[in-house]
Amino acid sequence: MKIIVLNASPRKKANTAELCKQVVKGAEDNGAEVEYIDLYSYDFKGCMSCFACHLKKNKDNPLCYWRDDLKEILKKCLKADAIVIGTPIYYGSITSSAQAFLERLLFAADTYLLDEEGNRISKIKKEIKTAMIYTMNVTEEMSYFNGEEQLAIMRGYLTNIFGECEALYVYDTKQFKQYSAYLNNMFDPELKDQSNKTQFPKDLKRAYELGRRISGE
Ligand SMILES: Cc1cc2nc3c(=O)[nH]c(=O)nc-3n(C[C@H](O)[C@H](O)[C@H](O)COP(=O)(O)O)c2cc1C
Repeated sequence: MKIIVLNASPRKKANTAELCKQVVKGAEDNGAEVEYIDLYSYDFKGCMSCFACHLKKNKDNPLCYWRDDLKEILKKCLKADAIVIGTPIYYGSITSSAQAFLERLLFAADTYLLDEEGNRISKIKKEIKTAMIYTMNVTEEMSYFNGEEQLAIMRGYLTNIFGECEALYVYDTKQFKQYSAYLNNMFDPELKDQSNKTQFPKDLKRAYELGRRISGE
């Protein structure tokens, strides 16, 4: 069982990274071979709309043809049994890096061909399990603010093209060590501390369990 875990936060030691590392631990404890990748360490763009992947002659190749740092990462993803993407929410959506990665992963594996039932035909012939981890400032009660329906769109495409895609929502993350140094009266530092001490450890455990689950046969 091979798993790729991608941190799509620019911060390499913050909330999303910590959660992604728990996924790695859970999967490794289950005997899986795991590769952890910080997407922001690589230089790449989103889909360049070259359509090479949609040419008839390339109908059997689900790998994006664009040559930049992402090509090797995409190659590894297509060979994996599971892909986990952790992303902070920026202005109600996934980060630009997560978006660019998904555009390239999805479009090259997809086609504009419909089967008899009207479903898009994917180039992927084996199931690759996927999961998204979303981290955000807002509390669960305020989650409507981030439009989970919008987040579900990319998960829908992941499901259609690769198979099952689960989601882990992590609310009320602690963004700064010292809130008093920043322009802020929106977030109460004490409540953030409290959530970081009580809720975040539970979220780390949920990420560990996700790692175990996704690495199960
Ligand atoms: C540019 C930017 C935009 C953000 N927009 C939102 C948002 O719309 N909703 C939200 O809940 N949190 C928002 N946040 C907060 C982050 O999603 C949250 O702190 C996240 O857990 C950060 O992940 P990290 O600690 O791994 O960097 C934003 C943060 C940044 C830097």
